[in-house]
Amino acid sequence: MKDTKAKFSSLTLSLHWIIAVFFICLLSVGFYMTNYNAFALYPIHKSIGILLFVFILWRVIWRYMNGWPIPANQYSKLERSISKCIHWLLIIGILLMPISGMLMSAGSGHGLYIFGFELFPANLDAIGKAVPISASVGELGEDIHGAVANIMVAAISLHIIGALKHHFIDKDNTLSRMLGKKIQ
Ligand code: HEM
Ligand code: HEM
Repeated sequence: MKDTKAKFSSLTLSLHWIIAVFFICLLSVGFYMTNYNAFALYPIHKSIGILLFVFILWRVIWRYMNGWPIPANQYSKLERSISKCIHWLLIIGILLMPISGMLMSAGSGHGLYIFGFELFPANLDAIGKAVPISASVGELGEDIHGAVANIMVAAISLHIIGALKHHFIDKDNTLSRMLGKKIQ
């Protein structure tokens, strides 16, 4: 079932909330593990990130087939443009984070694994140290991963502030509809 102005489909709702929760967790774990050298968290961060990529691709294809949500209320042109911009940033950001993470990991010779299941082999030397397959691809992935992570913190914060503004200040149904309610 496609989204309508009155109600979002269960697929739109499920994909939005699964990706929202896991993405925010991955951002928090990512910053924590790099700042505190918590290397034990790297494999779980990568595994969940690769799995989430499947849901992200599904969501982007679904968003393309389904079109953007019809606004729940009458908004000014400025507000509609800001919301469109943030939605585009979020969609591009959720694609770039896992792609850059995979480029970083594969390029730097660490391979790609989902909880031990090999997707792309690591390139290790005799003492088990990772040898880059392509140092430039690995570094490009790392730079994009770090920069987009910060942009996403800002975009998600604005997105949440926007959703709360609609709910508590404008008192409209934007958030209720994303929580699964049928609106007028
Ligand atoms: C507590 C956290 C969040 C809340 C309360 C929230 C709320 C909402 C609401 C109310 C909408 C509907 C907007 C409309 O009808 O025009 C929406 C859409 C959207 N949200 Fe969130 N959101 C949250 C987290 C996130 C996160 C973490 C992401 C991505 C990383 C995200 C990405 C999107 C995108 C791309 C849309 C556009 C419509 C779609 O593609 O389904 N949201 N969100
Ligand atoms: C899908 C969503 C993902 C999110 C939101 C995310 C988020 C983050 C964040 C915030 C950091 C810290 C960045 C920094 O402070 O420089 C990080 C680091 C890292 N991420 Fe991700 N990540 C995701 C997916 C992935 C994937 C799929 C992989 C690899 C397969 C990956 C591999 C890494 C690695 C290796 C680091 C450490 C980088 C370093 O030590 O400099 N991430 N991630």
